[in-house]
Amino acid sequence: MRLTMVGTGYVGLVTGVCFAGTGNDVTCLDLDARKIDSLRQGRCPIYEPGLDELLERNIKNGRLHFTTDPAGAYRDAEIIFICVGTPSDATGHADLKYVMGAADDIARALQKDPSSHRTIVVKSTVPVGTTLKVRDRIRAAAPNVRFAIANNPEFLKEGDAINDFNKPDRVVVGVENEQTGDLFRRLYDPFVRNGHPIYVMDILSSEMVKYASNNFLATKISFINEMANLCEAYGADIAKVREGMCADKRIGSQFLYPGLGYGGSCFPKDTLACIAMGKQAGVPVPLSSAVHETNQRQRDRFFARIESRFASAGGLRGKTLAFWGLAFKPRTDDVREAPALTLIAKALAAGASVRAFDPVAGETARAEIGPDAAILADMYEAARGSDALVISTDWDDFKSPDLGRLGAALKSKLIFDGRNLYRPEEMIGHGFEYICVGRPVAPGDRKS
Ligand SMILES: NC(=O)c1ccc[n+]([C@@H]2O[C@H](COP(=O)([O-])OP(=O)(O)OC[C@H]3O[C@@H](n4cnc5c(N)ncnc54)[C@H](O)[C@@H]3O)[C@@H](O)[C@H]2O)c1
Repeated sequence: MRLTMVGTGYVGLVTGVCFAGTGNDVTCLDLDARKIDSLRQGRCPIYEPGLDELLERNIKNGRLHFTTDPAGAYRDAEIIFICVGTPSDATGHADLKYVMGAADDIARALQKDPSSHRTIVVKSTVPVGTTLKVRDRIRAAAPNVRFAIANNPEFLKEGDAINDFNKPDRVVVGVENEQTGDLFRRLYDPFVRNGHPIYVMDILSSEMVKYASNNFLATKISFINEMANLCEAYGADIAKVREGMCADKRIGSQFLYPGLGYGGSCFPKDTLACIAMGKQAGVPVPLSSAVHETNQRQRDRFFARIESRFASAGGLRGKTLAFWGLAFKPRTDDVREAPALTLIAKALAAGASVRAFDPVAGETARAEIGPDAAILADMYEAARGSDALVISTDWDDFKSPDLGRLGAALKSKLIFDGRNLYRPEEMIGHGFEYICVGRPVAPGDRKS
């Protein structure tokens, strides 16, 4: 099939490349000329494991094209996927300016060739009702264009996006008629040979599946963080509590890791969008609000522990903090809403110097943090001369460091581990002062 992906970001690029991989002819459109230039030269603008190879292969076999020209991109497309960003606006609502902008571009382009039938799909995460608004907007602007509308939320995770897209747990599609449902069954057939389901449903429910899923996962993270904070207050160990709790099959173990809370481009904005949808409809959603607040508080709480540790030494002014990890999670260069950036901003505001390292997100973080923090190319170099190390992303690279080398690099052997990467006894045995989340770090911490 001939597909056009509108927006060549994390979702548009990964899904475009994967659809090309199963034999479709895919055009990726973006307004960002630099991104498209780089992709045309086979250079991937984002870090996503496995994406470079697939990109190269599908460009070589002629199934993947990149353009900034909407008219050309839409002209021959059978299916158009809108994959543009839907960031939060100042009130927490999803800002739909990119989605509606894409709808206007589509209407303009298709008006010139209204005869062919197309399917226009909203893949961006959008508030319930948006896909039908897109339909109506295109219909009003281009009444002669023949098209079906659909919603097809995306569930891939950055860092594992290729695998998630190629072997999805489920595919969800919202449609207005059976023919469109059948089109999606054919398109996704190669991806669900593992027997996983394609759920074809009405458009409003399909839009809601995405918000309900992300909001639920965010809830799990805020929940375990709340339990970790109680563990800290009472001297229990969240690592043991987690084990004991997660062995219950009804609970499971995924997304129940205590730490600095969730970040990234999805959970924060999608939880806020649910809160905004509730407000708009007059439906109380206090649980969603609490999930969001707990998440924000988790970062503040962790920073307060850093500050209070330095209080007797004159505070953070003039001190140096090393940070391991800038990305919002491992295996991505995405720093949107990353806890590390919040902590670094707070450290800088408190007068500390910052030396940071991330295996891949250094460049994207530099654009966000500005010149005030030093971003180093080596994790031990970042630690050199620092008054403490803060671990802010659970990259594999940080899981088994050379503790001798780390101790020698740091000015004082003090670690604030926001990701609970190490065993407290082992760190103490190596002479570190080790402060983590929800676990007693010294025998005296355990309340009798
Ligand atoms: N990133 C994820 O992990 C993820 C996962 C599932 C769903 N989603 C959802 O998918 C959507 C896209 O997210 P993303 O992270 O890929 O966004 P992104 O910001 O990485 O990419 C969006 C791209 O769209 C382009 N764009 C904007 N308007 C355009 C237009 N009119 N024509 C062509 N290009 C245009 C931008 O230049 C940008 O490159 C969001 O709604 C998001 O919530 C994201």
